[in-house]
Order: sequence, then C-alpha cells, then structure tokens
Amino acid sequence: MKKLNIVIAGGGSTYTPGITSAILSHIERFPMAEIRLYDNDSKRNEDMGLIINQLLIEQNQTDIELITTENPEEAFSGADFIFSQIRVGGLKMREQDEKIPLKYGLVGQETCGLGGFAYGLRSIKGILELVGYIQEYAPDAWVLNYTNPETLVGEAIRRVYPGIRMINVCDMTISIEETIAENYDYDRKNWVPTYFGLNHYGWYTEIYDKSLGRDVMPEIIEKMRAKSMNVAEFNEGDQTWAEAFKMMSTMVEYFPDYLPNNYLEYYLFPDVVVEKSDPSYTRANMVMEGREKNTREMARKIRDGETENVLNFNFGEHGNYIVDIATSLLNDEHRRFMVITPNRGSIPNLRQDAVVEVPAYIGATGIEPIALDPIIDFHKGLMEAQVAAEKLLVDAYFEGSYQKALQAFTLNQSVNSAYLAKQVLDEMIEANKGYWPELN
Ligand code: NAD
Ligand code: G6P
Ligand code: MN
Repeated sequence: MKKLNIVIAGGGSTYTPGITSAILSHIERFPMAEIRLYDNDSKRNEDMGLIINQLLIEQNQTDIELITTENPEEAFSGADFIFSQIRVGGLKMREQDEKIPLKYGLVGQETCGLGGFAYGLRSIKGILELVGYIQEYAPDAWVLNYTNPETLVGEAIRRVYPGIRMINVCDMTISIEETIAENYDYDRKNWVPTYFGLNHYGWYTEIYDKSLGRDVMPEIIEKMRAKSMNVAEFNEGDQTWAEAFKMMSTMVEYFPDYLPNNYLEYYLFPDVVVEKSDPSYTRANMVMEGREKNTREMARKIRDGETENVLNFNFGEHGNYIVDIATSLLNDEHRRFMVITPNRGSIPNLRQDAVVEVPAYIGATGIEPIALDPIIDFHKGLMEAQVAAEKLLVDAYFEGSYQKALQAFTLNQSVNSAYLAKQVLDEMIEANKGYWPELN
C-alpha cells in the first residue's frame, strides 16, 4: 500500500495528539510516510512538533517523517489527506463569543447561538484561505474537516468550492453514542443509528442494534427518563459535559419521540442554560486552564529534556472517528458515519441547499448520504428557521451586509429579541475587528 503524506492543519490544536495516536493505531490500514503539522502560529506548532515527535518515539514509528511548517506550499505539496481543525482567533476569541451574549442574557456558546455566529464569521475566512491553498498545492487530496462551526463552514465551502473533495464531520454523535452505551450497557459497535438535523441541532430517529435485532432507541429514551446519564470515561471529571448529558433527560422528558443531540439545550432551553452560566468564567476559560495549559506543559517538559511519562491525553472517540472515516475512504470500506453535507434530498421535505447532518456510507468516491423519511413540523420548523438564519449569516459574510447580519442574529433560534440581537452584534463587531469582514 502506498504510504501517505498527511497534513494536520491547525497542527498546534490540542486535538493533534489524539488524531495522530488514532492514525498510529490504524497504521496497517492507513500507512503514513510523512506527518506535517501546518499552523499559522509557529510557537504552538513547534510545541506540538515536540509532543508528536515524542509520541512517534514511544510508538517506535520514527521512520515516519515529521515536519512542522507555517508555509502552505511546504505543507500541502504532495499531500494525500488533510485533517483540518483550525480555530481562527484562538480560545481568547472563543471567550468573547461566550461572554458577550451572556452580558445580554443570551446563550454564550462556542458553536451555538450568537457565539457560534461570531465564530462563524471568523472561521469562514480561515477555512476558505486554507481550502484555497489546498486547491493550489494538493487539488487531489482529501480534506477531512472538524473545523467549527461546521454548518456555517459547510455552507461557505458549498458556495465557493462545490466540487471539493472535503468531508465535514462532527464527533458529537459518536460521543453521545459512546456515553449512552457506557451508561446503559450496550455495545455501540453493533449499532446502525439513523439521525437527521443540522450540526449540533439534530435528533436520532432510530438506533438499530444488529446483535439484538431491534431498535433500541425507545428503551434508551425510557432509561434516560428514569435515570440521567453520567459522563463516559473520556469525559471523567468534566462538569460541563456532566451537565450537558444530564440535560438530555429533560429534553426526552418533554419530547420523548426522538433522542436529541445534547446541543439542542441551547435552542430549546436557552433561559435555563443562561441561568446556569457564569458570565465571568465560561467554557473557554476552562479549556485554556485545562487542555491548552496541559499541552503547553507537555511541550515544556520535553523541551527541558524530561521525556518519561510526559504524554497524557485522552480525547475519547474524537481522533478515532475521523481516522475511521479516512480509512473507510482510503480502503473503500463503505462504512456508515454521520456527515455534514448539502441536503440534496436526504431530508425530503427540507430545502435542498440546507447544510444538514445525516448518515452516509463512505468509500473511495467519498460520501453517499442516505435518503430519510420526511420530518414532522416541530423539527422542520425549528430547522427551517435556523437554516435561514445561517444562510443569512453566510450572505452577510460574502456581501459585507450589516442588515443581513442583523437579520441572522435576530433569527438565530437562541434569540427572541431584535433589540438584544443588535446590541450583541454591535459589540461583537468591535471585538472582532481584523477577524470579521467589514459589515456596512
Ligand atoms: P486550538 O485553538 O487549540 O487549536 C487550533 C489551532 O489552529 C491553533 O494552533 C491555531 O494557531 C491554529 N489556527 C488558527 N487559525 C489558523 C489558520 N488560519 N491557519 C492555520 N492554523 C490556524 O483549538 P482546539 O480546541 O484544539 O479546536 C480546534 C478546532 O476543532 C476548532 O475549530 C474546534 O471548534 C474544532 N473541533 C471540532 C469538533 C467537531 O466535532 N467538529 C470537535 C472538537 C474540536
Ligand atoms: C464536541 C463538539 C465539538 C466542540 C467540542 C467542544 O466535541 O462536537 O464541535 O468543539 O465538543 O469541546 P470543548 O472541550 O472545547 O468545550
Ligand atoms: Mn461538533
């Protein structure tokens, strides 16, 4: 099998060790010649270079060449697969996304609500630039993208590069499935889940268990109503995730027909979420003091010559999921995953140009999404409004339109006031100078 040149774009990301470990543990199905870390922040990239070098040593994989670079030509020339996970503006700007809406009593979150919209206007610019480089230096490469906010990124890419070999995915469904399986004692490897929605805005309609020969979703919902879930092992000790998974019990209590993505709490219960939030200490602060600091510390120790037992990370299914997708593609395995993609009939009664999250089989030619049943008015209504808000935001980006941005902010399903939407928008314009396009 040909050995591949792999690029991790956003190489300095705290998730790079998880993705690299996942590749190394599937190396026979995903042989690697070079791993290239590409980032626009040389300090973060070099730190990660030290960590990945240590990982290669510990796994006896030093014949794999490791490159760290901030030069797109060097990063992408001759590349076969690109794993993309950039965060434009870093966690410092994530903190603004979360804190500004909270000042006005609105949801402040990385990918949902107005925080997600603010992040979107930054991220689109970064991802379009990245994809532009890939088109120039590695037009035949496959891009596997985790960069958030995924629906907005997917919508922007759909408009500019409709034919690109890019697969957008989110680890949330696999994390939910793993958490359910651990809590209620199932083996999710036997599952064929059916799910529809927008990214971080969707529902399971069935979880068929091949070994049990039945749909286990109804019994899971009953179990969840009776007793809420604890976090899975990979989220041990993480209070944010503990609360998010608990909230799923409330959601199925209200709406017991389908199993929701935990992120729907930001749209169905925004007031409850805001009430629980601390406007001066948000998730970005936790991540900066946790994962980000931990990564910096690992690099510092290695730089100081301390290499015994320095590597410590556990990202659950995040790395495995995207690497499983890459191997399914490379080896034409036709396995089934959730993907984020233009609708084109998957959800028959939703607009065709919506960017949705649905199951797809993945093989050598890319994704083959499945055709789902029509959806009912409750989910359709929620999704149509949110899709329109997202379309307006992406219009605002390309047209530089303040009016469209204001419409988008007002229509976002976590907001119920044009008055508040405008105040948040105006403050975010100031906070995002240099990152957002100019809005007139
Ligand atoms: P991070 O800030 O630790 O890492 C991101 C890296 O991207 C940084 O090193 C930064 O310097 C780099 N970067 C920023 N802009 C860039 C650009 N224009 N070109 C090249 N590099 C650039 O963030 P993180 O917490 O590790 O998350 C990384 C990304 O992955 C985020 O977008 C996050 O939302 C996303 N994510 C997605 C999923 C999912 O399910 N889709 C899951 C986890 C994380
Ligand atoms: C899940 C979601 C991602 C999101 C991440 C945030 O994995 O699917 O889209 O970026 O959670 O995690 P964090 O620890 O950064 O808050
Ligand atoms: Mn996600």
